[in-house]
Amino acid sequence: MKISVVGCGYLGAVHAASMAELGHEVIGIDIDPARIESLQQGIAPFHEPGFDALLKKNASRLTFTTDMSAAADTRVHFVAVGTPQSADGSADMTYVNGAIKGLVPHLLKGDLVVGKSTVPVGTAERLSAHVTQAGAILMWNPEFLREGFAVHDTLRPDRLVYGVPEGTVGDTATAVLDEVYADILAKETPRLVMNFATAELVKVAANSFLATKISFINAMAEIADVTGANVTQLADAIGYDTRIGRRFLNAGIGFGGGCLPKDIRGFVARAEELGVGEVLSFLKAVDDINIRRRTRVVDVLTEELGNVEGKTIAVWGISFKPDSDDIRDSPALDIAESLARAGATVVSADPEGWKPAQARVERAGLSMSLTTTSDHRAAVQGASALVVATEWKVFQDEDPEIIAGLMTQKVVVDGRNCLNSGSWKAAGFHYRGMGRN
Ligand code: UDX
Repeated sequence: MKISVVGCGYLGAVHAASMAELGHEVIGIDIDPARIESLQQGIAPFHEPGFDALLKKNASRLTFTTDMSAAADTRVHFVAVGTPQSADGSADMTYVNGAIKGLVPHLLKGDLVVGKSTVPVGTAERLSAHVTQAGAILMWNPEFLREGFAVHDTLRPDRLVYGVPEGTVGDTATAVLDEVYADILAKETPRLVMNFATAELVKVAANSFLATKISFINAMAEIADVTGANVTQLADAIGYDTRIGRRFLNAGIGFGGGCLPKDIRGFVARAEELGVGEVLSFLKAVDDINIRRRTRVVDVLTEELGNVEGKTIAVWGISFKPDSDDIRDSPALDIAESLARAGATVVSADPEGWKPAQARVERAGLSMSLTTTSDHRAAVQGASALVVATEWKVFQDEDPEIIAGLMTQKVVVDGRNCLNSGSWKAAGFHYRGMGRN
């Protein structure tokens, strides 16, 4: 099939390459010429395992352009543009509205427009009128991809969710998208067909649940800190209950990234608009607990060092999670910036995140007190304390004896509970975990 993907950011670019992998002819469209140039050359504009290889492998079926009229040659159009957070917490719909407006003049009767962006409930219903006027059909097919596993999650998703209009048009839309995803469905991937509102809510409900799970265990970590309990053992013990499950119960400095934080805030904002904000008040608590985790690290360092002002502190981790160069709402970078603002000299190391971080640090006016590097050993040279803020494998595999020899004071704050505490203590470190010591 001939497919267009409007929006070639994280979601759209991976989706475009994955659709080509399924055998389709794909045109990726984006307003950013630098991004399009890079993708057209087969170079991934961001770090995502397996994505480069997928682009190269499917180059003959993939074209990237800034010209929206290229969509006129295709019959299925995915909309995968971003919905960033507005100042009031709600989702900014500028790009989604712009994509639909730009697409409509190029639609033919019978075309299918498939929304993938995470949107406030009610969006598909609102946009459907514009698409229907052109004789096309709109459906919503939210994505659930995790960074670091984006290619896998697109080609082997846990489930496919189709939000469709009522009646036979809904059946037609389902049949067309089934054809697009035929190879995925052949692997017995569950496929759930529902109305627009349900499909839109599935996405934000899933992210809200995951965020709640993380903040729940982080609340337990704070209780563990004052009672001498061990939150990792607690998570293991409750996780064996299959109703609870062990995944997403890793305590630490909390969640970040381009989805979880903004999606829960956007959901609360939408519920308030709908007059049912109170029912989601627990998500504000989830957000507050999450932000407290970042302050907690600064508090622990202050306890250990007396004062962070004038101290040299190394932070391992800049990106919001390992195997990613994404620094959006990154707890690791937030902590480094807070320490720098508090008067510490901070050196942050990350295998990938150091590149995008440099510009942000300069914009924040912190380049005198916060430097970034890819070399995590260089970062600890002469430091009074080390904070492990992102659980890259290279940090977990590091030899604490070597690190001990490079630092002036042996204090380690394990913000992700990812180190072997025994071997760090054996190397002479004063080890502080998050809800475990
Ligand atoms: C998330 C959802 O998982 C995905 O389904 C959705 O489509 C987009 O948002 P992603 O942003 O890639 O994906 O990150 P995820 O792996 O979910 O991690 C989110 C954050 O939670 C990270 O900062 C991670 O470090 C943190 N986290 C995760 C914890 O603090 N503890 C955990 O146990 C798990």
